[in-house]
Amino acid sequence: MSCTVIVGGFFGDEGKGKIVAHIAMKDRPAIISRGGVGPNAGHTVTVDTRAYGVRMVPSGFVYPDAKLMIGAGVLLDPKVFLQEVGALQVKGRMFVDFRCGIIDEEHIQRDRKSEHLHSKIGTTGTGCGPANADRVLRLARQARDLPELKDFLADVPFEVNSALDAGERVILEGSQGFGISLYYGTYPYVTSKDTSASQVAADNGVGPTRVDEVIVVFKAFPTRVGEGPFNTEISQEKSREMGIEEFGTVTRRPRRIGMWDGGMARYSAMVNGCTQAAITGIDHVDPKCYGATEYRRLTEKAKAFIEAAEKDIGVPVTIISTGPELGHIIDLRGEV
Ligand code: IMP
Ligand code: MG
Repeated sequence: MSCTVIVGGFFGDEGKGKIVAHIAMKDRPAIISRGGVGPNAGHTVTVDTRAYGVRMVPSGFVYPDAKLMIGAGVLLDPKVFLQEVGALQVKGRMFVDFRCGIIDEEHIQRDRKSEHLHSKIGTTGTGCGPANADRVLRLARQARDLPELKDFLADVPFEVNSALDAGERVILEGSQGFGISLYYGTYPYVTSKDTSASQVAADNGVGPTRVDEVIVVFKAFPTRVGEGPFNTEISQEKSREMGIEEFGTVTRRPRRIGMWDGGMARYSAMVNGCTQAAITGIDHVDPKCYGATEYRRLTEKAKAFIEAAEKDIGVPVTIISTGPELGHIIDLRGEV
């Protein structure tokens, strides 16, 4: 298991950040590198009751011995990036591909002021769509054009492939989720780029033959922020009654909540080339499972849920998250 890609299987916010952080602490990778769209992502990692929200720095930052990178395909907002680098004190091990596209203030304004993007699509207002549009038009600036990024520039594909050649472990961390992929999601209610595992590899200049594992993260009760179809959606009242309400990390908007969608899980696993699955929010299926760290501690109700999900997905569920803390996890890798 040297090159592992981790992506979201539903509409984003599946808890990828926590899964990446856990795997990083356990597998001790040499490099953790971000793929995905850009700072529209919001990953929450909770360590010892302290919650860190990251939008640009990889969620694996909690493992202190890894180099952290942002792949060329990802959009970089220099303000967000430099603020996080300072807050998390990762300077010295944080690198950015010199070809990353830059989000300027003007992109953010275009995103927020556009009736189409803001109201119809319900974007995060982080400038990603307009910046990707300018990148396609070959107008966007690149990371190498900004003096304030000088100390961070790297050739990420070279770094990552060299680490793999040396037999080291690499985690490629995706963002967003399958259902909001520009290609495979619920177009036009999608983000500005594909979000599948192949894209995350391409974002980092890693060829398909070099990827060993694709872990797709699913959430027991999927959520969606912004507009667009959501087959298994339940009412806000019902989610409140069930005690499973959620709010966005970036936008603080209430998330729309739904029931498990087996058909979507299967399709998403197929396109992502899923080799193992992770399921988060098992404590929402049965609160008695909160914080469990061993499979045998799960209730019959939770086990039945996981077994049914495994049939939908078609590959083993090897990681089960049972609460918000990094330690609230059951890791069955190596046992199945
Ligand atoms: P954009 O990516 O900001 O252009 O937003 C397009 C759509 O993708 C909107 O519905 C957003 O709510 C959604 N979206 C973008 N990034 C994320 C994410 O990280 N998690 C969940 N939804 C997201
Ligand atoms: Mg999020």
